[in-house]
Amino acid sequence: MLTKRLKADKEGIEQAAKILKKGGIVAIPTETVYGLAASAYDENAVKKVFSAKGRPQDNPLIVHIADIDSLNTIAKDIPDSAYKAAKRFWPGPFTMILKRTEKIPASVSAGLDTVAVRMPSDETAREIIKLSVPLAAPSANTSGKPSPTKAQYVIDDLDGKIDAVVISGVCEVGVESTVITLVTNPPRLLRPGAVTAEELREVFPDIVVDGAVLAEPKKGEKVFSPGMKYKHYAPKTETYLVEGNSEQFVQFVNSKENAAAVCFDDEEGKITLPKLCYGTAVDEATLAHSVFSVLRKADDLGVESIFVHAPSKSGVGLAVYNRLIRAAAFRVIKL
Ligand code: TXA
Ligand code: MG
Repeated sequence: MLTKRLKADKEGIEQAAKILKKGGIVAIPTETVYGLAASAYDENAVKKVFSAKGRPQDNPLIVHIADIDSLNTIAKDIPDSAYKAAKRFWPGPFTMILKRTEKIPASVSAGLDTVAVRMPSDETAREIIKLSVPLAAPSANTSGKPSPTKAQYVIDDLDGKIDAVVISGVCEVGVESTVITLVTNPPRLLRPGAVTAEELREVFPDIVVDGAVLAEPKKGEKVFSPGMKYKHYAPKTETYLVEGNSEQFVQFVNSKENAAAVCFDDEEGKITLPKLCYGTAVDEATLAHSVFSVLRKADDLGVESIFVHAPSKSGVGLAVYNRLIRAAAFRVIKL
């Protein structure tokens, strides 16, 4: 299949919408990461998304909407708190899991009776949805790889497997949306993102952070979000997440051979190994913005192991930590 390159202009957006309405699959930019979109009402199109990504059949997709009315078409038994959260966090990097209506085919939700819904803030994404239908869209990467934060990464993974890619700039946030479920009581944070746990508590004072956010789900433990069980975002090179202060980290990595470091910007000059910097420790948003592109570049360093300096777990740092611990297959070194 020839994958069309579309611009994020009026013509490109119209073409993307047309392909989607006809049952095709198109990679689109969002403020978090690029998504691989299909009509959420079209079972056959949704199947194509799973197959292009090589996504496990039991991992449900997020439905993207552009107006609040669509929420009532897609979800039912919606609690008041969901509308409150929508008002506060939409449009933006925030996803809610609610009860699913019949309008959404079961395959979108991998057979669950729930549905994940998000209203993105990216203007291109919103225009495409407005001109077509609500879009089921997972991140536009091959399953297991880091989520794509620019169009080139989508092309690297999916060229020839999808109908089109809408080429826009680098995704501003850089990590996927915050996912919460409102089907459980109390509500649960399943995947941290740019809408932070601290902000969520202002709307959901009793929200609990799911155990899978910071640790590998244990055998037999109930998994609320299927995506959390899979190995994710992983470079081919063996990756370790290293916790400690700057001095400890620099000393630790400088004692290693055949290794590389993923470090904070102000550590660059002190590290003697090959290295990639991913932002400043005190500004977690910079780390979120760069983390996936750094993980994609890590294999090019041609070393045996990669040591990543862990961010703090507060604010957006929790989201970065959550992705890194999976990239490191839960190998954490505490200095
Ligand atoms: O920012 C984002 O959320 C991006 C952009 C494209 O919008 N999308 C994204 O989708 O990250 P994906 O498919 O890569 O991640 C969706 C996550 C998975 O962990 C999945 O298991 C979970 O949300 N999920 C989706 N529907 C669910 C449901 N009904 N119940 C539990 N978890 C669900
Ligand atoms: Mg994904």
